[in-house]
Amino acid sequence: MAFLSTPPFASTAYPAKFSHHSLDSPVFTPRFSVLGLGFRSISHGVVVRNSNQAEPLVDSTQIADVPLLSCLEAIERLKTSQENQKSKQQYLAMYSSIFGGITTDKAAMVIPMDDHMVHRGHGVFDTAAIMDGYLYELDQHLDRFLRSASMAKINPPFDRESIRGILIQTVSASKCRKGSLRYWLSAGPGDFQLSPSGCQQSALYAIVIQDLSPFDQKGIKVVTSSVPIKTPQFATMKSVNYLPNVLSKMEAEENGSYAAIWLDDDGFIAEGPNMNVAFVTKEKELVMPHFDKILSGCTAKRVLALAEGLMREGKLQGIRVGNLSVEEGKKADEMMLIGSGVLVRPVLQWDEHVIGDGKEGPVTLSLLNLILDDMKSGPPTVRVPVPY
Ligand SMILES: Cc1ncc(COP(=O)(O)O)c(C=O)c1O
Repeated sequence: MAFLSTPPFASTAYPAKFSHHSLDSPVFTPRFSVLGLGFRSISHGVVVRNSNQAEPLVDSTQIADVPLLSCLEAIERLKTSQENQKSKQQYLAMYSSIFGGITTDKAAMVIPMDDHMVHRGHGVFDTAAIMDGYLYELDQHLDRFLRSASMAKINPPFDRESIRGILIQTVSASKCRKGSLRYWLSAGPGDFQLSPSGCQQSALYAIVIQDLSPFDQKGIKVVTSSVPIKTPQFATMKSVNYLPNVLSKMEAEENGSYAAIWLDDDGFIAEGPNMNVAFVTKEKELVMPHFDKILSGCTAKRVLALAEGLMREGKLQGIRVGNLSVEEGKKADEMMLIGSGVLVRPVLQWDEHVIGDGKEGPVTLSLLNLILDDMKSGPPTVRVPVPY
């Protein structure tokens, strides 16, 4: 079973010897079903360590005598492990086309192990922020979601309007007013082959994540990524293959930074692991790399539109989407990260180079305020009300 988060069992919550059935016992069957969905059991052969923790997460006695659990026992253990999980985020509701409904029970927020998205990465995803009970830029994200699905040769199980309706109903059922909606289209469950030909039906999943933490506008540091950038075919599609993005983010964190910036094959500035990047030159021109080799950011495009207002106010002299060298970027007056997660975040240092005067730039902060205002009181084209 693949969980949307896969917490290990809490080692102290259960007796070491829960079951008398060992792995080679005749009563052990490697396949069992949770919620009748044909999920597979997982046997752990190794002690799992989290890179941030020195202590093993799984009690070795659990590995020596792995218990065979009934469906209810497995769910009970899952619930306990979820209760022991410390997270600022709350998952309030999940939709799955597999069970054809919405659940608010976290233990049921699972996807089948034999889903092609789980074992082959054959899935795409997207998000939309939830602000004051409105979905921000839902339609823009939905367009990109369906474009990504088409690039990944996934034929959605429903048409666009139905998907849109399901997503809005999922947020409504969650009662969440601030956080994010994340959703996936997958080739679906079927078997463990490389080809999706055995996947009977593509699947749609969605989850509502409450996040009440305030937006942070403090400037951050970035580094240049040493993890290779995805080729344009894969960078322009929002597939679930985010391993390069994860490694890039980890590289940044290992270097005391917030994000690592990718350069494209010609050495031009590309994007961050889950955000776009933009600059304000000494001539007060807002410059952003084009979207032909990177993800077409919904927030970045909205920033480009809202920046027109700063032109009228004389705070900007121009707006340009084009190639930008690292040298140009590092000598810019302002640098910022842009995305649905970070919104608009000032960058104060890139590698060893201080950007501008080393303080949060005025244009960056104005753009952040414009996006925040847009989320709270923008036009209906960017704010979809959720009927609670
Ligand atoms: C690789 C990548 N680039 C850019 C973005 C920013 O896109 P958006 O503003 O639509 O969130 C994201 C976030 O989804 C991303 O994953």
